[in-house]
Amino acid sequence: MKELSFLTEHCSYPAKELNDPAPSAEQIEHILQAAMSAPDHGELTPYRFLIIEGEARFRLAEIFAQATLQRNPEVDEATLNKQKNKPLRAPMIITVIANITQNPNIPEIEQILCAGCAAQHIQLACRALGFGSIWLTGANSYDMTVYQALGLDIDERIIGFIYIGTPADKRLKKKRAPAKKITRYWNRSQHTDFAI
Ligand SMILES: Cc1cc2nc3c(=O)[nH]c(=O)nc-3n(C[C@H](O)[C@H](O)[C@H](O)COP(=O)(O)O)c2cc1C
Repeated sequence: MKELSFLTEHCSYPAKELNDPAPSAEQIEHILQAAMSAPDHGELTPYRFLIIEGEARFRLAEIFAQATLQRNPEVDEATLNKQKNKPLRAPMIITVIANITQNPNIPEIEQILCAGCAAQHIQLACRALGFGSIWLTGANSYDMTVYQALGLDIDERIIGFIYIGTPADKRLKKKRAPAKKITRYWNRSQHTDFAI
């Protein structure tokens, strides 16, 4: 049950509650190695990572501001500042990028799902090492200005920005809906309200 509670008690933390320290270089290597064991049809490794920390976050802030302005040249200053502040909320961001190749047996959706699993492995590995994280996207994740500035290729997409740091309250608990509410045994002769 201890192993299971690692999963059942997993939760995300608001980015602004993620403080220094970020994982060390050695810890980040372990975290990203954990991501490499995401389920991967055909062993394509259809993802890659960009680590953004320290001063690099300020450059990302400028990119977010530039992209926001291009999306809406009339944007007000408060919104622009909010965008600029986004990357500064946590000490480290790992950008998970799906790297999609044309393959007759492995459709795009499977490659994107694989990249998503890698992102989730990053979150779980962070937790295993005592760090908190949250997976965020938003308009910047789908913006060509951001893609160009971060050096994405034509077949690449941002799956998410994983914000990482040390949470003030490590024992944050969240109430989850019971799985049996959304689960049924298929093709079973006996019907009951609760299938499990
Ligand atoms: C693909 C993806 C994108 C997400 N993007 C956002 C986002 O932009 N903003 C946000 O508040 N939550 C986003 N979330 C949800 C958070 O990562 C997180 O799951 C949510 O805050 C609930 O917390 P929990 O993980 O503890 O249940 C996203 C989740 C996924 C899987």
